[in-house]
Amino acid sequence: MGSIIHFEEIDSTNNYLKEHCSSLAHGTIVTADRQTAGRGRFNRKWESQEGGLYFSLLIKPQQTDFWPNFTQLMGLALCRAIEKLYPHTYLKWPNDVLADGKKLCGILSEGVLSGGKLEGMVIGTGVNVGQKTLPDVGQPATSLYMLGVQADKQLLLNDIMQYFWQDYPAVEAQGFAAICEPYKKRFPFIGKEISVKNGEKPLFGTVRDVSERGTLLLATASGQEEIYIGDLIV
Ligand code: BTN
Repeated sequence: MGSIIHFEEIDSTNNYLKEHCSSLAHGTIVTADRQTAGRGRFNRKWESQEGGLYFSLLIKPQQTDFWPNFTQLMGLALCRAIEKLYPHTYLKWPNDVLADGKKLCGILSEGVLSGGKLEGMVIGTGVNVGQKTLPDVGQPATSLYMLGVQADKQLLLNDIMQYFWQDYPAVEAQGFAAICEPYKKRFPFIGKEISVKNGEKPLFGTVRDVSERGTLLLATASGQEEIYIGDLIV
């Protein structure tokens, strides 16, 4: 594992890595006990009170073809580490981790540009670990504590990162195809009717598959759609 920089409180671990990207090495991790301005996908707020595991990882891959798939690799690593503690844990495309239908982890990945080129990618992860209650964020959420699991945040982080680095070289070389099988094993929505939202109006359909590129294949009334980004409403 790369070096870890820890803060008791910070605005956002993603912000720190984005601001210091050029001086920090590939593999650097920033953790915080609390975030005062934790951010989620689609400009949402990520409530970051004491008890959760909040960390961001900086990666500087050799080539850029498969950058989006590193986020899915992190989702898979989270799921693999957490399912050992709570078996009813699974993935919701593209990279949420749910337990019993409630959100347990979320990932916000952000690219860092320098001179028009991608200098690095920040993969920010929030895991609800020890929170006894969670604020209402408009969707069902849970924590390991609420599921009856007492977890050590440091051991959990070590385990997550072990799974992440184990498959990193294969994903860097081949993209999502390298993790397609273990990912789909943990994605219980194939054949299910869902809708996908990505800012515009939702698209309804039946999930056909997750492609070798990591995209969602959705059968809709007007034919098959390949979805690159979005929020699955299940
Ligand atoms: C989501 O599900 O919308 C993604 C949530 C990502 C939250 C994490 S917590 C650590 C890192 N710092 C942030 O500000 N956000 C990410």
